[in-house]
Amino acid sequence: MPEKQEKKERRGAWGWPRTKWLLGIPIGGFLAFVVGAGAMLGTGAAIEATGTDAFCGTACHSHEEFIYPEWKQSVHYSNRSGVRAGCADCHIPKEYPDKLIVKTKQGIRDGYHEFVLGSISTREKFEARRLEMAERVWEEMRANDSRACRGCHNVESFTGQTGRAERMHRRMETGDTTCIDCHVGVAHLDPDDAARKYPSAND
Ligand code: HEC
Ligand code: HEC
Ligand code: HEC
Repeated sequence: MPEKQEKKERRGAWGWPRTKWLLGIPIGGFLAFVVGAGAMLGTGAAIEATGTDAFCGTACHSHEEFIYPEWKQSVHYSNRSGVRAGCADCHIPKEYPDKLIVKTKQGIRDGYHEFVLGSISTREKFEARRLEMAERVWEEMRANDSRACRGCHNVESFTGQTGRAERMHRRMETGDTTCIDCHVGVAHLDPDDAARKYPSAND
């Protein structure tokens, strides 16, 4: 009798609850796997979809209207080499986690200004803010030594440079000048040129 009771107790205390609890491990693990895989595929696809030139250039009214056409006329859209630099090549880091951080930050900021505030919804508003927006990009590029540009251009392998270009490029050896200090407006109008082109917007 005591033996039987002991057995019952053991089952009561350890048998059933224990297996029930153990059952939670594979179920929980499986759920975590499903959720994790879903999230990974979801963001992977989202990252792809929101990284194309068509998306960056046209999903927002302001980009379609003011940014896309300028890029399409730039040397980075079509050139004798046939190599195109897209929005993401210059504006989104290639490496993780930087890529996700920048995309998230830019997505929130741009979306807020575009869809909530309408900060750059007209030519006037866009031009009024162009310099400020450009400066933000320049600042980032200075901070990372024009990493995006260097992803495609390797100054050491330039050939046939003019003497002036060569002298200028040698200035980078000291480490305190970078591409964006000299080359602005390579995919968009330089803000100074834009101010001349759209004078009424800057009154
Ligand atoms: C995806 C690759 C890519 C990226 C990123 C890129 N470029 Fe270029 N760039 C090119 C190609 C291709 C050309 C055209 C080369 C040719 O055919 O002469 C070019 C041309 C240029 C030229 C020559 C302009 C002219 O009028 O002839 C300059 C200057 C330049 N790029 C600077 C930059 C700077 C500054 C950055 C960073 C903000 C940058 N590039 C980012 C690929 C790239
Ligand atoms: C100190 C100024 C300076 C810096 C910094 C600089 N460049 Fe230049 N770059 C020039 C000048 C000046 C030219 C010649 C432009 C001309 O002759 O029209 C030139 C020419 C070029 C060209 C060829 C343009 C053409 O007409 O064929 C490319 C491409 C280029 N630079 C890319 C870069 C990249 C990429 C960086 C950063 C790694 C960089 N440059 C940094 C001043 C600079
Ligand atoms: C070759 C590199 C390059 C490419 C390609 C490029 N950008 Fe830019 N972008 C810049 C730089 C550099 C600036 C800072 C202003 C300047 O120098 O033109 C800038 C500025 C901007 C600005 C601020 C407003 C302005 O005119 O300065 C926006 C918005 C922008 N880019 C969006 C885009 C979108 C959208 C695309 C694709 C359709 C794109 N960019 C393609 C390099 C690039």
